[in-house]
Amino acid sequence: MKIKATNIQWHEGHVQRADREGLLGHKGATVWLTGLPSSGKSTLAFTVEHALMERGHLAYVLDGDNVRHGLNKNLGFSAEDREENIRRIAEVAKLFADAGVIAVTSFISPYRRDRDRARSLHDEAGLPFVEVYMSTPVEVCEERDPKGLYKKARAGQIKQFTGVDDPYEPPLNPELTIDTSKVSPTEAAALVLELLERRGLVGFDNAQ
Ligand code: ADX
Repeated sequence: MKIKATNIQWHEGHVQRADREGLLGHKGATVWLTGLPSSGKSTLAFTVEHALMERGHLAYVLDGDNVRHGLNKNLGFSAEDREENIRRIAEVAKLFADAGVIAVTSFISPYRRDRDRARSLHDEAGLPFVEVYMSTPVEVCEERDPKGLYKKARAGQIKQFTGVDDPYEPPLNPELTIDTSKVSPTEAAALVLELLERRGLVGFDNAQ
């Protein structure tokens, strides 16, 4: 990416991250879901968001299909466009986490390098980042195919479809791996919440 923004200066505000965390009663963080189409990312993301809200934690889902309706509507599915998609979302998730929100991202994010960059961005800012790999087997994803996209890809109507004729690089060291052919969305969400609790990212003391 060519950096074109020049003659710019960082401006510190009067409110610190810790002040926002104090207001909300928890830290901000990014939970990064990655996996094949129809592996259960969006379902899990929205289930986690709901479970966190019910426990008095502010969470917000950044979902691939949804974000591509707005912010990223000018991006397609070439390797370059997917890289830019993930770069922007990593930056947006970082802003949410800095604001004190638990950002739950739900993107295929097929390239290891792009996900590692998202992690580094958070590390450098001192913000927690947990990667959750949806390891649901491709046969199961293709069998589910709720949007009929695998079918279209097999018929040659969609090119560069992840899992059919475009690559997916599984994480090497994810904090959590979930196969949604083996666990329900509620069970999967409980695994994520347990992980967040173990990390001290959510305490449920402000539950209502
Ligand atoms: S990513 O690869 O750049 O991370 P992202 O998660 O934003 O992808 O978007 C994936 C969604 O776009 C899928 O859920 C699907 O509905 C739609 N889509 C359309 N074309 C493709 C394609 N060629 N490969 C994968 N998903 C596609």
